[in-house]
Amino acid sequence: MRKPIVVGNWKMHKTVEESVELVEELKPLVAEIGDVEIGVCPPFTSLSEVSRVLRGSNINLGAQDMYWEPQGAYTGEISAGMLLSVGCRYVIVGHSERRTYFGETDEWVNRKVRAALEAGLVPIMCVGETLEQRQKGITQEVVDRQVTEGLRGLSPEQVAGMVIAYEPVWAIGTGLTAEPEQAQEVQAFIRARIRQLFGEEAADSVRIQYGGSIKPENAREIFLQPDVDGGLVGGASLEADSFARIVRAAM
Ligand code: 13P
Repeated sequence: MRKPIVVGNWKMHKTVEESVELVEELKPLVAEIGDVEIGVCPPFTSLSEVSRVLRGSNINLGAQDMYWEPQGAYTGEISAGMLLSVGCRYVIVGHSERRTYFGETDEWVNRKVRAALEAGLVPIMCVGETLEQRQKGITQEVVDRQVTEGLRGLSPEQVAGMVIAYEPVWAIGTGLTAEPEQAQEVQAFIRARIRQLFGEEAADSVRIQYGGSIKPENAREIFLQPDVDGGLVGGASLEADSFARIVRAAM
């Protein structure tokens, strides 16, 4: 049985003060929940303070991106070791906003995933098709390439321990959620590809989240799908009550 995992991706929101306030509010709301893995990914500037507030709680910390080199002259970048040093457990890699606005390629995503795993972070690798690609009927082709290239060179054990987030680009921040059956269809496809590429155990263990306009109102129906192991939540994770309700929906 896979433990569902619900993670908040705060994107470019919240100052340090606002971040601390949000997690202080969230902690008691989810304190009793043991059968859902919970995480928050604040902006880099808030990681250290949020980490302090989360110490000893059941909420894990993650970052929204990283660079694959361990250190060096890479102005503006952050390494896996730096994320570990502030207490991160996860790192989101290959989010569609990074692919679209910052030109990230599958090869970059793969380098980041490998560097994260080697350092001991759990990568949350994002994949998903645009509206145009869905309308053209090439969703599976697109997702297949992102999965195959993103996971290139990994061992089955590494794949088993990571998280993949299926986030259809047309559902992100738009209020349009994929129908539960649409999410299930693509996520079952992803798991089947992982079975072909990395074997039974990796496919059965890897957790595949859904992301895209998850709200307290639609979360349960989506999380009930057999190949949906929780969610990556954007807008609705910026408010403690709505995020806590989404976490509960995964129980
Ligand atoms: P929204 O929940 O705001 O649609 O964002 C989803 C997302 O991109 C999470 O990574």
